[in-house]
Amino acid sequence: MTQPISDALVFFGATGDLAYKQIFPSLQRLAKRDKLKGPVLGVAKSGWTLDDLKKRAKDSVEQHGGLDPEGFEKLMARLCYVDGDYSDIATFQQVRKQLGTAQHPIHYLAIPPSLFGEVLEQLKQSGCANGARVVIEKPFGHDLDSAMALNRIVHNVFDEKDVFRIDHYLGKNAVQNLIFFRFNNSFLEPIWNRQYVESVQITMAESFGVQGRGAFYDATGAIRDVLQNHLMQLLSNVAMEPPIGSWAEALRDERTKVLRGVQCLVPSEVVRGQFDGYLQEPGVKPGSTVETYVALKVCINSWRWKDVPFYIRAGKSLHTTATEVVARLRRHPDIFSRDPLPSNYVRFRVSPDMTIGLGAHVRVPGEIPRGTPVEMMATQHASPEDILPYEELLADAIVGNQARFAREDYVEEAWRILDPLLKNLPPVHGYEAGSWGPVEAEKLAEVDGGWLNPS
Ligand code: BG6
Repeated sequence: MTQPISDALVFFGATGDLAYKQIFPSLQRLAKRDKLKGPVLGVAKSGWTLDDLKKRAKDSVEQHGGLDPEGFEKLMARLCYVDGDYSDIATFQQVRKQLGTAQHPIHYLAIPPSLFGEVLEQLKQSGCANGARVVIEKPFGHDLDSAMALNRIVHNVFDEKDVFRIDHYLGKNAVQNLIFFRFNNSFLEPIWNRQYVESVQITMAESFGVQGRGAFYDATGAIRDVLQNHLMQLLSNVAMEPPIGSWAEALRDERTKVLRGVQCLVPSEVVRGQFDGYLQEPGVKPGSTVETYVALKVCINSWRWKDVPFYIRAGKSLHTTATEVVARLRRHPDIFSRDPLPSNYVRFRVSPDMTIGLGAHVRVPGEIPRGTPVEMMATQHASPEDILPYEELLADAIVGNQARFAREDYVEEAWRILDPLLKNLPPVHGYEAGSWGPVEAEKLAEVDGGWLNPS
């Protein structure tokens, strides 16, 4: 069914951090590509004027990717601002007024989750929700019950077809490429299963700490900040069955099916860590036991993946910044070389660059047959011309394409997997900043050849 094109974009949290770092640079690019229709309306309670917001937007694009005179001018021509309290219906009446003749606005909630319910209700009461779409930032809930409750609140105002739960990882080309590469190359799919794959690892390593977001992070932790969303999306893209097409529900059905097959996490197969020095970060509570690192093992109960361990880890203040998926292949018989060589593997690097590496063995010159490991590699370096994840996803929301947004049942499945863990967290172990996390995590993957650290 063809969806109407949104004719206005309202973003709540216009003076906040996300708008500054991600939204303005993406809006500038969308404006340049003439993807925006109607007004672009920032809403916040900061005592600001439109001129203040324009200054902030200028600073934002200068700091994040650069000011593009054409795009910036086009954006400024559309930008309006409403300053007001989210608990006051007058704020939303003002929004409705500024929307003018727009029939299908997008309301982007780039605000703390504690405000979602109130803003959604006000959108309904003020008539702003009529014919509209809503984009909701992560984290969507903080456990299964709260995600289900939030879904009920959302559906009280919007139909599911108008709900866009955003996870910027799905806007990354390298993440979309996991599906594209798997299903557009005839050599990979025949071996992408338990017969050939021995284990899979997913690593999201960040060499930096909480970067001034101590208060947010301390209320969230690695499990809720990145495991429930970014890493589950990587897992479902890597493990999904071939979708019957590229339309939204075909893809979302398969992603959700993967999560349905994942058994609930048990605390004994999860390691939590906290980097030394975290407690001194501004905003972090004294004695906090919030994890800045998490490592775990999951199994997918499906015909394709039964008994193949998936090791997943994410952490701050680690040795390097890189996100990778590596599938270790089962060993071939050692007939031509007596030296033990590492297993063959397929490596997808998702960031900072996009790389596909095939770990293979080649013969070393000489009389005695000996092999050496090599990696055949294809890399695409990030370029300033690349479409930004938020740019890509907002463009999708404008035309009503939900393919890269999380569906109601998907988010609930992700929380279902994590819920028993969240209710019974294992202890947190310290680790040195700049290391690969707590030693306890090494033991977790030992039985399957240990972690493969991105370089
Ligand atoms: C965000 C998390 O969603 O993703 C951050 O809140 C994390 O803690 C970030 O650093 C990573 O995203 P990217 O695109 O920089 O890899």
